[in-house]
Amino acid sequence: MKRAWWKEAVIYQIYPRSFMDSNGDGIGDLKGITSKLDYLQYLGIDVIWLSPVYKSPNDDNGYDISDYQDIMDEFGTMEDFDEMLAAAHERGIRIVMDLVVNHTSDEHRWFVESRKSKDNPYRDYYIWHAGRDAQTPPNNWGSCFSGPAWQYDEETDMYYLHLFSKKQPDLNWDNPKVRKEVFDMMTWWCDKGIDGFRMDVISMISKTEEMPDGEVHGLYGDFSPYCVHGPNVHRYLREMNEKVLSRYDIMTVGETSGVTTEQAKQYAGEDTHELNMVFQFEHVEWDGPGKYGKWTDERLPLTTLKKIMSRWQTELYGKAWNSLFWDNHDQPRAVSSFGDDRPQYREASAKMLATCLHMQQGTPYIYQGEELGMTNYPFQNPAEFRDIESINAYREWCIDGPVSHEDFWPCIIFKSRDNARTPVQWDTSEHAGFTTGTPWIAVNPNYREINARAETADPDSVFHYYKKLIGLRKEHPIIVYGKYEPLLEDSEELFVYTRTLDGEKLLVVCSFCDHETSFTIPDPFVGAPCIISNMGNNYDSAQMTLKPYEAFVLKK
Ligand code: GLC
Ligand code: CA
Repeated sequence: MKRAWWKEAVIYQIYPRSFMDSNGDGIGDLKGITSKLDYLQYLGIDVIWLSPVYKSPNDDNGYDISDYQDIMDEFGTMEDFDEMLAAAHERGIRIVMDLVVNHTSDEHRWFVESRKSKDNPYRDYYIWHAGRDAQTPPNNWGSCFSGPAWQYDEETDMYYLHLFSKKQPDLNWDNPKVRKEVFDMMTWWCDKGIDGFRMDVISMISKTEEMPDGEVHGLYGDFSPYCVHGPNVHRYLREMNEKVLSRYDIMTVGETSGVTTEQAKQYAGEDTHELNMVFQFEHVEWDGPGKYGKWTDERLPLTTLKKIMSRWQTELYGKAWNSLFWDNHDQPRAVSSFGDDRPQYREASAKMLATCLHMQQGTPYIYQGEELGMTNYPFQNPAEFRDIESINAYREWCIDGPVSHEDFWPCIIFKSRDNARTPVQWDTSEHAGFTTGTPWIAVNPNYREINARAETADPDSVFHYYKKLIGLRKEHPIIVYGKYEPLLEDSEELFVYTRTLDGEKLLVVCSFCDHETSFTIPDPFVGAPCIISNMGNNYDSAQMTLKPYEAFVLKK
């Protein structure tokens, strides 16, 4: 397997709005990030993925960009950006930008022009269609943020496509001018010295020419067979690779919701010249008995989780590269979704989850606050939501729709993206030290117990456990390059696997349950040294009893 720095790196995601506020307006900003680089260096991460900081009217918190070469007013200036980039590089930290080019904001000058007339030079930068009639859009597709995926525009009496909010019109990638604009913009950022791109919904950039009605799930038709992994997506990515990516020593990761292992081998194959790695979502978008679309309060059974993760480990081995994550700015908090956020189990289960993920093959991502074991927010009522997706979903399913508040509430608070977007908890001062003003979104009241100041001072904290895991990765190439093999696949309590590289072997044992379990250490590992454990147990004899959420790794 080829070695690469981005295979050996640990990445930390920053959602700037909620990371650190430097000027008391209640909104995180670039200077805030710069002020916390020492903290990140101490944690030991190699790369920051920065969620969007570009000019934006913030309909979707920066994922609606009105100028790709300027900074959002609330976050600071381009000077602040350059300062942050230089300060990160001084500390050996690389910065990966969020590239949101499936769509722009409707306030981007391309769209402002495009909607003016049918013969405007920018008309074909977007996807315009005539309606079936004045009141009916071209087809039945629904948008990811509720309502139809088409918006009527009076000016030219046509509809434009928006797979997300109506303030996020989809770009027309079949237009070579659009591709050139995007590639030029990317080149401009690369020349500035940034270190890569996380590509937002990149699997959706190519749409089929035919746009038939989709199968109805919930209230609208499903666009995915026509817009996800579309006919030209790989051609466009290879073109991007040739014109931009291959010319720099940067890393790329594609957000490819719905991707299969077969498709991932194309997107992120060792020799396919597209992307370095993908984000796949099978373990977080699992909708087994899903109740109302993505809104559910069901948890994934451990056997299902293991089956999904093991399949990704095994099928990509030696062929393509994967990303490892439990959460991000679109997902609820890891410890609340996959672990146990009750006070007596929170720390143990947060460390266990970290062990389980960081010992697998792939590049691990830590979402801000995850290294502290931050939890979901205890929402009391819908007025607390800030996220367009949650606000619209509550309206569509409950206020205007068929579902009662009692039935919907547990689902939306379990899944809402706002769980991940409450401010990072820095210390015990007011608003968790995030801001001296009024935070744009509520701070989780548990900041008095869970915060960076306390955890950096406590060698047994979740923070120090992450720091240790990151260090181990630097020490043992087997963690990066070893071959994965699952054990005890039918257990609903334990996630156990081995890694093998040359003559070395790792045994990774993680308990996913809140009671004691018995376990027999497999023969070759009896007496092998323990390189990390969240309980500080003794692992010398084969027969043992695991404590709730215990995790350990033996190496021989
Ligand atoms: C991606 C982003 C998400 C955003 C959406 C539209 O899924 O991660 O936050 O809302 O794309 O850009
Ligand atoms: Ca601010």
